[in-house]
Amino acid sequence: MSRLRDRFDEPVSPAMERFASSLDVDLDMVAEDLTASKAHARMLGEVGVLATDEVEQLLGGLERIGSEFVAGEFVPTTSDEDIHMAVERRLTELVGEVGGKLHTARSRNDQVATDVRLWLKARLARLSEALNGLVSALVARTESDGRILMPGYTHLQRGQPILLGHHLLAHAWAVDRDRQRVAAATSRVDASPLGAGAMAGTPHAIDRRRTAELLGFGGVVENAMDAVAARDHMQEVAAVCAIAVTHLSRMAAELVLWSSAEFAFVRLADAHTTGSSIMPQKRNPDAVELVRGKTGRVYGDLMSLLTLTKGLPMSYNRDLQEDRRPLFDAVTTTIDSVELMIEIWSSLELAAERFTAELAGDPSLATELADALAETGMPFRQAHRAVARLMAELAAAERTLDTLTDAELEGLGLEPHHRALLDPRAAAERRTSLGGTSWSEIERQIALLR
Ligand code: ARG
Repeated sequence: MSRLRDRFDEPVSPAMERFASSLDVDLDMVAEDLTASKAHARMLGEVGVLATDEVEQLLGGLERIGSEFVAGEFVPTTSDEDIHMAVERRLTELVGEVGGKLHTARSRNDQVATDVRLWLKARLARLSEALNGLVSALVARTESDGRILMPGYTHLQRGQPILLGHHLLAHAWAVDRDRQRVAAATSRVDASPLGAGAMAGTPHAIDRRRTAELLGFGGVVENAMDAVAARDHMQEVAAVCAIAVTHLSRMAAELVLWSSAEFAFVRLADAHTTGSSIMPQKRNPDAVELVRGKTGRVYGDLMSLLTLTKGLPMSYNRDLQEDRRPLFDAVTTTIDSVELMIEIWSSLELAAERFTAELAGDPSLATELADALAETGMPFRQAHRAVARLMAELAAAERTLDTLTDAELEGLGLEPHHRALLDPRAAAERRTSLGGTSWSEIERQIALLR
């Protein structure tokens, strides 16, 4: 931290140097930092703050730093403090004194805010693409296997027979909302802070809108203090990520359950399964367990970002340097998790016969009898009571619903032809109400999601 210390007699202590460096996380946004600097230099040239040849030298130097970084030749060190100082140091080594002109009309405060927004825009585009991919994977599974009959659960107890597509699309709609949330969050990330300076603006005749345009931002952050102090767009992104991974963790939890011997609904691909170091028979669902587990990390990231700005006075405070680690972690973890879930859904095998195996005669058809009684005019509550009593009798006698006799049906107030209601597929297909589990409703939703 040798530079920017002309007013001090002593250097910072080694402990302080280590403690204060943000370089390790900053290294993830070298490209963004160079891009922002180039746009700033161009704009300074266009408004006449810098001469054309000065701009050329700066752009050449920045370009070179980019290639050096890719080649592993530009290696920032802890003494650079952060990526902005590292680039400035290297730039001055390469182009000489004119390197120091690049920092006209900007501050590291608006630089870091700009870099992070550029970083976020690129990653949010990728996250959005990944979420699209996951919706597509779920829709594709629905198209290929959606007619498989299965128990629909509430309280993890069998409730009513449904089609697998109904279950898969319930997940798909949640992911669809995640992609909408990403789009909304992106709109608030998409504004340029560059040229805000430390927080008060600058007396130089800069053109912030032009810099924003060069960087591909949709607009500028209107207030210079807000530009360097705001972190709510990061919190919003982390919140969007936290909700998205929550959805993934629900799918993951089901897949852990479904891949167990007790359910055996699915067989996860070898690619997403690991063995045990002691139990030779094991095929552990580690991939989905990790998706579920990483959710906790993303929640932690969100909490860190919220706590970081709680009670923080305007405007930039060095605390804010702690924003990148949780933010980058939340976003990359979410992208990785979504991408892995696409692979998992696309490759797992479904055991159709297992989904359906125990549905014949299953008590989960009891609602059909109650609905049929309600159709005869009996109040649904009364029908519910009558069927519940019958179900208790059957359970006591260890009988399944398909052993119901004509006499028992008649005792209930129904007729022998009502036995047809006890076919689980017919029960699912009868649910043609909007959003119901019938295949016609599933097809309608596929079209909407596509
Ligand atoms: N490394 C700092 C950060 O990442 C850059 C801004 C430092 N500004 C300052 N006035 N010390 O937030």
